[in-house]
Amino acid sequence: MMDNDWASVDRYLVDALIGDDGAPALAANADAGLPAIDVSPPQGKFLHLLARSAGARRVLEIGTLGGYSTEWLARAVGDEGTVVTLEFEPRHAKVARENLDRAGVGARVDIRVGAALDTLPEVAEDAAAPFDLVFIDADKVNNANYVQWALRLTRPGSVIIVDNVVRGGAVADEHSEDPNVRASRELVELLAAEPSLDATVLQTVGAKGWDGFAYAVVNGPTS
Ligand SMILES: C[S@@+](CC[C@H](N)C(=O)[O-])C[C@H]1O[C@@H](n2cnc3c(N)ncnc32)[C@H](O)[C@@H]1O
Repeated sequence: MMDNDWASVDRYLVDALIGDDGAPALAANADAGLPAIDVSPPQGKFLHLLARSAGARRVLEIGTLGGYSTEWLARAVGDEGTVVTLEFEPRHAKVARENLDRAGVGARVDIRVGAALDTLPEVAEDAAAPFDLVFIDADKVNNANYVQWALRLTRPGSVIIVDNVVRGGAVADEHSEDPNVRASRELVELLAAEPSLDATVLQTVGAKGWDGFAYAVVNGPTS
């Protein structure tokens, strides 16, 4: 199967299982000229279902863009829940704010604008942590740094998910000089070595091509 086939399967699955959920945000992102680098609709719904399965009430997201994945996560945390989402580009954050308010979940979402490595220390000082789930989807070169931060801001049993780890299979190329691929390999090595985490990486195909999520659970004293 090739990318075109993967995309047509995604279209079939979206028609069957997702419909127009979240579609207004994707349309608004396109109208605003944001890059189409959001998670796909099946991936967005998968994040939503993972958050619900984990009973997540406090979610941290690193990399908001126009708030498409944020909306899926905000719907999962319920009325009493919160999503703190970190975005570098003020223009992206503005579109996200409009999308989230229009979707009726804006009151649950705290968008912090700035480089995540600068805003994470502020998040750590707030009462928002510990987070039940962290979704990392920003500048890939900092993935290992973001996982280290996520470890400080979570509790045993929390879930940490990192997007775009497989990079069309390039993650397996130990000689790659692509900084994003090297960052993926650094992340996998961290996940393997970190005793506080139990992790896997799941490859994905679909409208966004061939990639994959890292999925990690924070270990407790008896894990
Ligand atoms: C892949 S997009 C996020 C997509 C979003 N999670 C979704 O699926 O709808 C990555 C976002 O991270 C932001 N970003 C890049 N570097 C960042 C940084 N250092 N700190 C915070 N956000 C950053 C980009 O501006 C972009 O909006």
